[in-house]
Amino acid sequence: MKQDKILIMGACGQIGVELTLALRKIYGDSNVIATDIREEHTLLKGSGPYEQLDAMDGEAITATIKKHGITQVYLLAALLSATGEKMPNKAWNINMQSLLQLLDISIQEKLHKIYWPSSIAIFGSTTPKQETAQKTIVEPETVYGISKYAGELWCQYYNKRWGVDVRSLRYPGLISWKSEPGGGTTDYAVDIYYEALKAGKYTCFLSEDTYLPMMYMDDAIRGTIEIMEAPAEQIKSRMAYNFGAMSFSPKELTEAIKTHIPDFSIDYQPDFRQDIANGWPQSIDDAAARNDWGWAHKYDVAKMTESMLSNLKVKLQVPS
Ligand code: SER
Repeated sequence: MKQDKILIMGACGQIGVELTLALRKIYGDSNVIATDIREEHTLLKGSGPYEQLDAMDGEAITATIKKHGITQVYLLAALLSATGEKMPNKAWNINMQSLLQLLDISIQEKLHKIYWPSSIAIFGSTTPKQETAQKTIVEPETVYGISKYAGELWCQYYNKRWGVDVRSLRYPGLISWKSEPGGGTTDYAVDIYYEALKAGKYTCFLSEDTYLPMMYMDDAIRGTIEIMEAPAEQIKSRMAYNFGAMSFSPKELTEAIKTHIPDFSIDYQPDFRQDIANGWPQSIDDAAARNDWGWAHKYDVAKMTESMLSNLKVKLQVPS
């Protein structure tokens, strides 16, 4: 077992639940302290220590770090793109203040490492859309994207000025069956599987030809742990890394689902999230992550669809 003691903030979110469970397998259940402002997620119950903690409450965070002898922190608490557009000030405050505060705490408490997620939302409509490069035009158009890009710059600044070992990935849309997504523009790619099994049809809030970069959660969790475990000299960018796996449209995802559920049907009623998606890349060039610390994805659309449907059938108790 590894010796680090880990604090996860936002452990009840879509990434947090699965990351907590994966880290507990590596570091030992009692060495991973899961926290969130919410009640404990059912999937975390019984798997290790859980505390309610507000990612904005610096004093409580410092006390928790001292109490448990924490050496690494994963800060996952955030408002995502669609929620952020409804509550711009709140999104900016939560996304930015929680990071800035943690960067300062990490100096005071001499943390070994911090993980903080970024997103494809840092890019905007002036960015080249295909195979979007690690370094390119960056003019985010959502509050979420602005907060993530500003956060990347702060991470780089704290690394250069204070030597804080902070690591970050620009997540694409993440697709998972265990824990629920919340408030994102890419959430359709999760909802569609639930509705395919429950109702046999789905009304999509993005248009049929909206291509976006996507990744299966198994890959995302593995990549997150891999970047955190890579030797520091391999982390050549202290801005976040482009992090890719696949790109598809709602129409293509529907075709993949139809190979399992031939009668599945979809219709389209694009809403305000279409504008958000229109500003984002359609595919990502993640050569830097692949070259610097060996990133390699395993899931494509077909393999992910098979896994999503077989796991959700059990979860939703759908008869085969
Ligand atoms: N999945 C996120 C969102 O849609 C992108 O980082 O907001």
